[in-house]
Amino acid sequence: MEPRVYFPSSLQRFEPKRMVFSTWVDHLPFAYDLVEALSPKMVVELGVYNGLSFFTFCQAMVEHDVDGVAYAIDCWEGDAHTEGYDDSIYNDVATYARDHYRGIAYLLRTYFNDALAHFSDGSVDLLHIDGLHTYEAVKEDFTNWYPKVRPGGVILFHDVMARIKDFGAWKFFDELLQTEPEIFRFNHGFGLGVLRKPGGAGSNNQLLDLLFSGNEEEHQKLRQLYVHAAHFLEARRQATKFKAMAANKKAKGGQGKSTEQVKDGGG
Ligand SMILES: C[S@@+](CC[C@H](N)C(=O)[O-])C[C@H]1O[C@@H](n2cnc3c(N)ncnc32)[C@H](O)[C@@H]1O
Repeated sequence: MEPRVYFPSSLQRFEPKRMVFSTWVDHLPFAYDLVEALSPKMVVELGVYNGLSFFTFCQAMVEHDVDGVAYAIDCWEGDAHTEGYDDSIYNDVATYARDHYRGIAYLLRTYFNDALAHFSDGSVDLLHIDGLHTYEAVKEDFTNWYPKVRPGGVILFHDVMARIKDFGAWKFFDELLQTEPEIFRFNHGFGLGVLRKPGGAGSNNQLLDLLFSGNEEEHQKLRQLYVHAAHFLEARRQATKFKAMAANKKAKGGQGKSTEQVKDGGG
């Protein structure tokens, strides 16, 4: 049988609507495609900050017609790695959620542990762990929230390649790589770990099959594809920016000329 070409939606039509500074930028195309693959009824993000990853999940839910909700959980105070920040971050995220994702995005401004009681076991289809990145904090978030994820649900871990300061997500994820049967790591950017909780009905989806095939050759190709997808997104953004600048300059140039013409009495 001929190998099937993987040509994801992110390469065909993804234009991020919310663009704010975050090291998450390298994984936006994958997040967009993962939501399509999972069709999650419930997404939970631990660690939202200015919402780059969170609103990409929301955008993907809308554009892939996913009938679900997404919970953004953060104290919006910052932590030892982001450092403290003021209320303007939360206010901006709350306004954006209200204006663009009413009925989909729900913000819980609280500590992760205090939010646990709001979620039933086995209710979460997609969990993203992106709070404090020390080994102990990532382990605690994973241990506390793992029961909330349904069998067959997916857990994302950001920064699993960041070996800086006292970051330890990489170390915790390395341990999972030794024990978990369905696990994958993107190495670009600051790294993104992808784990599927055992059990569930199994999938009939090309991306999920590629992620959890256990085939290293397929994994390498998938990694390369999403490196290119991130570069492609950035190149397209730059091109759009330059086109807008050129159009702006042209418009101003045109106006400038007519102003001169008016001054000079030219016509
Ligand atoms: C790295 S940032 C999240 C980045 C975000 N996902 C993005 O797309 O850029 C981590 C956030 O987690 C929050 N945080 C860390 N530990 C927390 C905890 N135990 N409870 C609530 N929020 C926490 C911080 O306030 C911070 O805003």
